[in-house]
Amino acid sequence: MRTPAPRLRVPAPPYLLHVHPAAVIVATPAKLNLYLEILGKRPDGYHQLETLMVAIDLYDTLECTLRTDGQIVLECDHPALPRDAANLAVQAALRLREWAGRPELGATLRLHKRIPLQAGLGGGSSDAAAALVALQQLWKLALTRHELLAMAASVGSDVPFFLSAAAAWCTGRGEVVEAEWMGDVLHAVVVCPPRGLSTAEVYRQVRVPAAPRNGTAARAALQAGDAAALAQSGFNRLQEAAFLLDPRLETLCRRLAARAPWGAMLSGSGSALFALCPSRDHARTLAAAIRTPTDEPAPRVFVVRSVPSDGLVLI
Ligand code: C5P
Repeated sequence: MRTPAPRLRVPAPPYLLHVHPAAVIVATPAKLNLYLEILGKRPDGYHQLETLMVAIDLYDTLECTLRTDGQIVLECDHPALPRDAANLAVQAALRLREWAGRPELGATLRLHKRIPLQAGLGGGSSDAAAALVALQQLWKLALTRHELLAMAASVGSDVPFFLSAAAAWCTGRGEVVEAEWMGDVLHAVVVCPPRGLSTAEVYRQVRVPAAPRNGTAARAALQAGDAAALAQSGFNRLQEAAFLLDPRLETLCRRLAARAPWGAMLSGSGSALFALCPSRDHARTLAAAIRTPTDEPAPRVFVVRSVPSDGLVLI
């Protein structure tokens, strides 16, 4: 008989690493969508969805320091990242300052990027959540939880998740977050092809199903800590659209699935693919098998686990 799963509820990200009156540093994770179904298209152009998300131990770090010149400046080690209001972290900072009605507030945001861009891993949304938490501390602003979540949702559909839970069932356009229990830590291999995908473009291609699926089995598997059942009930409605936009992604997914114990799928709107594994050792072996030096340019391969309840491990 299976022993009852422990009920893990991991503290919500982002994680404060350092708090000082003049500087706040936070670590903020990536996410995987274990299940994603589209229920319909909304009058505002967004899609009504149901998704099961977990935070994984692949982190960006954001250091915010005070400026006295009223400027909001983003510094980042990734050359392709926009530094202006097109960046969600900058957008979050601008909205927070506007809410405060204090145009003199300034900050330098130093972003150390590890989460790949345009991967469906939520990196931009996670950075925005990090900026909200860090700057709220640094600028000594007292938003209510409700105000903070509303501001997060106005920046992007996934941002509230990164302020709310390490595992959650998300509905609406993704911004309505219900924290989820996890029965066990999940292990996975994440494969990021060199070419990313635009979220808006993938949604434009998606076919709204006449009879949407039901995510109950996936939720139950996560709660039970049954990774095999979770992989079996895993689904992503955006996958077909992403494969249409980039057929090489389908080939890569097949290659990963052929070597993985329980198959592979797309995360969010892609282009990252992932395979759940029974253990970290399995994940390491699979990662080594999928890293072939002949791929040019090579996809990036990460061995990850769901955000651990026993503290941070920065990779
Ligand atoms: O909310 P966010 O800015 O992250 O969404 C990016 C784009 O993805 C939107 O402009 C929209 O085209 C698409 N999207 C959607 N339905 C959702 C979430 C995103 O159509 N639920």
